[in-house]
Amino acid sequence: MKARLERSLEERRQQLEQTTVARAQLDLTMPARDQWRGARHPVTQVIEEIEGIFRGLGFTIALGPEAETEWYNFTALNFPPDHPALDAHDTLYLGDNVMLRTHTSPVQIRTMQGNKPPIRILSPGNCYRRDFFDASHAPMFAQIEGLAVDDGITFVDLKATLTHFANRLFGKTKTRFRPSFFPFTEPSAEMDVECQLCHGSGCPGCKGTGWMEILGSGMVHPSVLEAAGIESERYSGWAFGMGPARIAMLRYDIPDIRLLYDSDVRLLDQLAR
Ligand code: PHE
Repeated sequence: MKARLERSLEERRQQLEQTTVARAQLDLTMPARDQWRGARHPVTQVIEEIEGIFRGLGFTIALGPEAETEWYNFTALNFPPDHPALDAHDTLYLGDNVMLRTHTSPVQIRTMQGNKPPIRILSPGNCYRRDFFDASHAPMFAQIEGLAVDDGITFVDLKATLTHFANRLFGKTKTRFRPSFFPFTEPSAEMDVECQLCHGSGCPGCKGTGWMEILGSGMVHPSVLEAAGIESERYSGWAFGMGPARIAMLRYDIPDIRLLYDSDVRLLDQLAR
């Protein structure tokens, strides 16, 4: 075996030495091809950063299916049939009562069904809506859901935790809470952060308001706790949902959400970490 290998090596060496043509064409002064290194997508980076902040507060990560039943996506979340709130949640049905989820909130129900309080989870994942693909909407988008349920949880916990979160994510910043409506939270609030572009003085990015909306939140509605098998007389909780693509847009001053889905390395390269 050794003799055979040595013989073929020798043969090949002689062959190569004879091909002077090939040698003449070898230009050792030519610059080498650039190394190309991949990186995580800016939306993935934002998701991982947010996960890190909430992990530090004792939250764990929970995942749910993207194909969801009507019961988890709507009924258990206290959407009455025919309620106008459903209009914003048009989606594709895959078969009887099975649909592409329109938000990550069904993971709240799945988590509460499978766990006893104290509960603290963060749930990133893709959602689908029949929206036009325009500068601020995409028919498929990521959301991050958060849920905390325990004895004696109040709106103070919601405000304090989300304010802390905003300061960690954006660096010291101002926040404000505005009353809002979601069928599955009561009371409900949107959280705004000071516009990261003009720092509150008003610019086209924030439509002159000085604020940018980053998430929806509220105290978990007692009917939602009950639907998931948690005693609403004993426990309370708060929840939030936000769009990491929106946060990436605010943070990196990206004017059009479609840029995040184009896979154009001229943009992605600038944000590679
Ligand atoms: N699921 C809501 C939405 O998609 C966001 C939300 C989550 C609001 C949790 C309140 C609490 O718009």
